[in-house]
Amino acid sequence: MSDELSVGIDFGTTNSALAIVDAQGEPQLEGPLRSIVQFDPERREPSGRLIPAVGPDAVEAWLDIRADGRLIQSAKSFLASKLFLSTNVFGTTFSLETFVGYILRALRVRAEARFGAIPDRAVVGRPVSFAGAAARADEDLALRRLTRAFSEAGFREVRFEYEPVAAAWHFEHALDADALVLIGDFGGGTSDFSLARVGPGERARRRRSESILGSDGVALAGDAFDGKLVRHLVAPRLGRGDTFRSPFGKVLPVPTWLYGHLERWNHVSFLRSRDTLGILYDLQRDAVDPGPLAAFLHLVENDLGFELYRAVQVTKEALSTSDEARFHFRDGPLVIDVPVARRDFEAWIGDELEAVARCVDGLLARTGVAPADVDRVFLTGGSSLVPAVRRLFEERFGDARIATGSEFTSVARGLGLAAAS
Ligand SMILES: Nc1ncnc2c1ncn2[C@@H]1O[C@H](COP(=O)(O)OP(=O)(O)OP(=O)(O)O)[C@@H](O)[C@H]1O
Ligand SMILES: [Mg+2]
Repeated sequence: MSDELSVGIDFGTTNSALAIVDAQGEPQLEGPLRSIVQFDPERREPSGRLIPAVGPDAVEAWLDIRADGRLIQSAKSFLASKLFLSTNVFGTTFSLETFVGYILRALRVRAEARFGAIPDRAVVGRPVSFAGAAARADEDLALRRLTRAFSEAGFREVRFEYEPVAAAWHFEHALDADALVLIGDFGGGTSDFSLARVGPGERARRRRSESILGSDGVALAGDAFDGKLVRHLVAPRLGRGDTFRSPFGKVLPVPTWLYGHLERWNHVSFLRSRDTLGILYDLQRDAVDPGPLAAFLHLVENDLGFELYRAVQVTKEALSTSDEARFHFRDGPLVIDVPVARRDFEAWIGDELEAVARCVDGLLARTGVAPADVDRVFLTGGSSLVPAVRRLFEERFGDARIATGSEFTSVARGLGLAAAS
């Protein structure tokens, strides 16, 4: 790399951030910015082009006109999907990279307002495995799309770094002795791990890649936890598990695939297609108990996915600090108000926790590192705030070796440091 300046950028499933290192060597941060884009059919340039709203502006605009607009969230989870070619928003065809480019551009414009001109070269985070990637070709597709998105946002050159490796650089920044560290970065879409030797001595190495012993990841994180809350708290009140009378008089179960879409934020608006709405109208008409399906229709017709997401978020956050919480959601005929115990939540996300544990144990085994050899464990990312996630590491490494913090900024800060080195 030449000695031209570059910045660090963490494009996250839920939150994105940019970091640029100042003259004192400290990363200065822009963000976190919510990784969401909203469109209003009336908000256009004179040429007719839709003007996107991003981050908090997108939330505000959404709450203003709700289902009359369109909201795109968790776009990162589609990057590795061959099936996502383009989507039509109010008469304009958009590629995925254009949505992502809008978020990156908003981040850059905000950063420029604070720090002045921003370099057009970036060190960019990537998960170890992208959500939905089954093969190497899918990972390559995701990286090509990300590169194009950065180019659309005005970045001429990007270099990718694993997100947990970036978090390791952030953690290293505060260490005064070399240590073998395990990093766990739990985000919205993916949980990623790296084993690395970091510290002042390691920093002096010419090839930093030698400090990394190994990395691995799973495409299960906060969005999957949300999905489980929806499955257990919401779907049963919208007709999941109910029955309807078929035209031939048979009593059949309401199809469960409808509720699968409900469990993924970026899929809820798919339910608004004419075909699916037709199915829902028929089901409501024929349901043995039409009430829950009427509530489901209300949710889909009014595109309440984002409102539902916010309610789930409130409950999930409350369960991170208390043993009991309530899930509350109210909109028209759709009223849900139920208590939730942390113990139940932990049982619902049992499969995800197990997959995370397998991934960590596999990484240790593959690198030949025994848990006793790990000096420090650094847990970061929003979903590391879930107590059951932390407990997986307490069981393996004990409380004293675990450090936490900078949940929403460690990856961007580490990318900034990598960009400056
Ligand atoms: N207090 C909390 N308790 C539990 N989960 C939380 C809490 N705060 C935030 N989260 C979850 O953390 C996730 C977002 O974390 P973060 O910003 O680190 O992800 P991201 O970097 O956008 O995603 P990824 O790294 O997977 O691309 C969301 O799923 C959010 O619901
Ligand atoms: Mg992240």
